Amino acid sequence: MKLAIGSDHGGYELKEFIKDKLVETGHEVVDYGTFHGESVDYPDVGREVALAIQAEQAQYGIVFCGTGIGISLAANKVKGIRCALVSEEFSARMSRAHNNANMLAMGGRTVGPELAWSIMLAFLETEFEGGRHARRVAKIEG
Ligand code: RB5
Repeated sequence: MKLAIGSDHGGYELKEFIKDKLVETGHEVVDYGTFHGESVDYPDVGREVALAIQAEQAQYGIVFCGTGIGISLAANKVKGIRCALVSEEFSARMSRAHNNANMLAMGGRTVGPELAWSIMLAFLETEFEGGRHARRVAKIEG
């Protein structure tokens, strides 16, 4: 699967960990940075990854900041983006099954690497259920 990934400095280490695991497991990953641990502004990266997803340059966007809050807020400002901030597996599955999330956000300072990887797998493995959920998701777009 082709994935777009990005973080600020607060999510940098977790981004690198998840990126390596994704590449090891055969995914194509386009990295929108940051490429170091120096301070950068999460809205810039969140928007860039979100624009890539909006333009269908990758199937899903995966973003990280310290909490995942700021970067998910920024991503969700881009039309057509449904970015789910998740810190456990059940919500990761539901974000795909019920909300048809096209981006996943996690916090580098709130979620450990192994849990983040389980969340990542749950997100990738789960299909959107459609049906009544499609009607509700359409209402999000207005
Ligand atoms: C950066 O210190 C921090 O504010 C950022 O990573 C994120 O947690 C914002 O929501």
